[in-house]
Amino acid sequence: MTEKKKFLVTGGAGFIGGNFVGKLLGEESGQVLVLDKLTYAGHLITLERWAENPDYQFVEGDIADSELVGRLLKEFKPDYLVNFAAESHVDRSIDSAADFVQTNIVGTHVLLEKSLEYWRSLGDSKGNFQFQHVSTDEVYGSLGATGYFQESTRYSPNSPYAASKAASDHLVMAYYRTYGLPATITNCSNNYGPYQFPEKLIPLALANALNGKPIPIYGDGQNIRDWIYVEDHCEAIMSVLAHGHGGETYNIGGNCERTNIELVGQIITVLQEFEQLPTDRPFEHFIEFVTDRPGHDQRYAIDASKIGRELGWQPRFTFQEAIRKTVRWYLDNQEWCTAVLNENYDGSRLGRAKND
Ligand code: NAD
Ligand code: DAU
Repeated sequence: MTEKKKFLVTGGAGFIGGNFVGKLLGEESGQVLVLDKLTYAGHLITLERWAENPDYQFVEGDIADSELVGRLLKEFKPDYLVNFAAESHVDRSIDSAADFVQTNIVGTHVLLEKSLEYWRSLGDSKGNFQFQHVSTDEVYGSLGATGYFQESTRYSPNSPYAASKAASDHLVMAYYRTYGLPATITNCSNNYGPYQFPEKLIPLALANALNGKPIPIYGDGQNIRDWIYVEDHCEAIMSVLAHGHGGETYNIGGNCERTNIELVGQIITVLQEFEQLPTDRPFEHFIEFVTDRPGHDQRYAIDASKIGRELGWQPRFTFQEAIRKTVRWYLDNQEWCTAVLNENYDGSRLGRAKND
């Protein structure tokens, strides 16, 4: 019997990390150690179904804690470190960038330093380690009406969040180029699915609509995002771990562009189909146009042909199918929403641009 691969997953109590841990423990038979600081965005309830699984361990801690990270690497001896840990919400970075610089840049640097030390200690087994950094398409900035982000697109981040992720990507690539640390980067577009904290557009829209509150639409609602179901993103990362090459970046996207107003319209329609909202009200009844996000990127669109061509990955889910799965999950898991909003959360931020 082949030994199970070991995954050190940072940020595993968050949205995408939590789904990734589910994939590892549910389908891939890995051994998983989650390191998560449990910020307002990280919740053990997201991982509670794995609590008794012998292949799962959880450590509460900060990726910027060099002593802790070094110790976990030495003791757990992972084959892969997959870095999801981050401050991830653009609006919060506009309010204050300090936590973003600390976690996304300083924290990633600590992970790299300690991974380098660990990797060097592996001797003949050095080839067995991979550092996979989970990043975003926001590092590329904003598109006009045409074109796509490719791996060769020049970095041009606009928000403090995007700038902090861009800095972390550069550090990862510098550790590959300078020291040879086997590292890969994935840059993905907007995710949706179960366990997303209800401050991001889709879960916030669901929460507001179900609670009879208007859904805030920034600006004119014409900004475009390229949506991907979280399970497709997790599978893309698995394919990078299995077949990706050190020093490479891979764009990941769902080939699913929507204006924000179209997207919210589709969510309202699904809620009406599921008999959660009245059908006799005009769309305008459910939304409210609010002050735009400062520096709001106009359009994101990913060219994911490299990962398709080189690693054979393609998204499996259509938007029609996955948005219904997502809405159904939130309807069936209202206690998760209540729990994550009740835990040390400052609700004043929810769905508001800075100047509102
Ligand atoms: P999230 O905010 O839901 O989760 C982040 C997790 O990181 C939380 O569990 C939080 O507690 C943890 N964390 C924060 N600071 C930490 C620290 N200093 N030490 C340890 N843990 C810490 O974020 P998400 O949406 O799941 O995003 C995960 C990663 O994917 C991020 O790096 C983000 O930049 C990237 N990404 C997200 C999207 C998206 O649409 N959500 C798209 C592309 C890339
Ligand atoms: O593109 C990948 C990025 O997608 C990730 O790197 C980020 O971590 C993730 O948060 C997401 O960033 P966005 O800023 O695109 O996601 P958000 O859900 O905050 O906003 C989506 C769009 O909806 C954006 O154009 C702003 C708009 N919006 C958002 C909120 C919260 C609204 O109109 N109203 C809202 O209340």
